[in-house]
Amino acid sequence: MPGIVECRLKKGLNPKEHEDLQILIQKWLKNDLDIIAPGLVLSHFHEQQLTDIVDMMRIVAIDEKNEFKVYLYECDENEPFDHIPSPDEGEGDECPSSSFKEIVVPCLNFEDMWENLIFEIDVKDQLMNYAATAILFGSRHVDLMKICCNRIILFHGEPGTGKTTLCKALAQKLAIRFVPKHYIEARFIEINAHSLFSKWFSESGKLVVALFKSLEHIINDETTLTFLLIDEVESLTAARTAALKGNEPSDSIRVVNALLTEIDKLKYKSNVMIFATSNLPDSIVLSLKDDNDPSIRLWNLSGQLSGLSGRVLRKLPLLAYSRHLIVRYEFLVSLLNNLTESIDELSYLSALEKQSRIEIEARIAK
Ligand SMILES: Nc1ncnc2c1ncn2[C@@H]1O[C@H](COP(=O)(O)OP(=O)(O)O)[C@@H](O)[C@H]1O
Ligand SMILES: [Mg+2]
Repeated sequence: MPGIVECRLKKGLNPKEHEDLQILIQKWLKNDLDIIAPGLVLSHFHEQQLTDIVDMMRIVAIDEKNEFKVYLYECDENEPFDHIPSPDEGEGDECPSSSFKEIVVPCLNFEDMWENLIFEIDVKDQLMNYAATAILFGSRHVDLMKICCNRIILFHGEPGTGKTTLCKALAQKLAIRFVPKHYIEARFIEINAHSLFSKWFSESGKLVVALFKSLEHIINDETTLTFLLIDEVESLTAARTAALKGNEPSDSIRVVNALLTEIDKLKYKSNVMIFATSNLPDSIVLSLKDDNDPSIRLWNLSGQLSGLSGRVLRKLPLLAYSRHLIVRYEFLVSLLNNLTESIDELSYLSALEKQSRIEIEARIAK
C-alpha cells in the first residue's frame, strides 16, 4: 500500500497539469524530505515551484519505500447556500424554514474537520474504506444484481458525539479522493429532517416534493458526486410512529412515506451517497431498515435462535429444506445429483424461518 498525501492547491491548475505536479511531489517526498510522518502538515517548501502552487500538503499515511499516492485538490471558498422552496400556495406572511443547504466540496469550511475528530476506536479508517469502496463501485457502475453495494450510511449515537461533523468531514475527504479523477465536482447537501415538521406541518408534504424536485438537477448530473445528509432523521420516525398510533394527522405519514420513497429511489443513483444521522438509534428500525432485506431477516433470525442447542442448529438447514421447500421428489433427486443446484434465496429463508419457529416453540414447550 503506498502512502497518501493530500495537497491543497493555491490557484486553478489545469487538470492536465496534475500529472506533472504529482510526479514532482512524489520525487520531492522521496528525495528531499528528511522527516516524514503521518499527520505532518507542510506549507513552506524550498522548491519554488511547489511554493507557487501548493497551499498546504498533508501526509496522511506513509509506506516504507516513501512511495505516495498524491491527491491534488482546490477548496471552494463559498459559504453553504440555503435553498428555501416555498409551497405552491405560498400565502401567509411566514416562510418555511430552509429546506436544504448546499455546498461544493472540498471546501474551506470543512477543512481540518476530519483530523480534529477523535474516536476511541478506529471508526474513521473503517468508514473511509467502506465509503470509498462504495463510491468506487458506483463510479464503475457495478451491477447491483450481482454485488450488493449500499451507499446509505446511518450514524447514530448520543447528541454531541460528532455525527454531523463526521458526515461533513467524510464528504470532504471523499471529494478530495474522487474529484477530478472520477467526478468533475462534488456537492454536499444537508437536509434537516426536523425542519420538515415545523410549524409548516400541513405544508410538509409539498415541501418534501419541492425539496426533491429541486435536488433533481444536481443528482441527475452523473458527473457530480453528491453527498446527501439527512440530519436528525429520528424526527421523521417519531412522527411516523405517532401517526401509526393515530395521534397525528395522516399528513405526517404521507410525508414520511414520501421521503422514504425518495430516499429509496436515490439508492440506485451511483453518484449519490446518503448519510443519515440519528440521536435515537432504536426509532430508526421502524423505517430506514428494510426488514425484507435477506441479510436483515437472517440477522433477526440468528438473534431469535440464541438458546437453541448446537444439535438443533445443525439440523435446521436440512429440516427447513426438506419440510418446507422440497415438495417434489424429482426436485430432491435433481438436487442430490447436482449439488450446485441454485437455491432461491428468499424461499430458503422463509423455510428457515418456519422451521426455526417450530424449533423455538418445541423448546418453550419442554
Ligand atoms: N469525537 C469527537 N471528537 C472531536 N470533536 C467532537 C467529537 N464529537 C463532537 N465533537 C465536537 O462537538 C461539536 C458537536 O458535534 P456534532 O457533530 O454536532 O454532534 P452530533 O451531530 O452527534 O450531535 C462539534 O463542534 C464537534 O466538532
Ligand atoms: Mg448533529
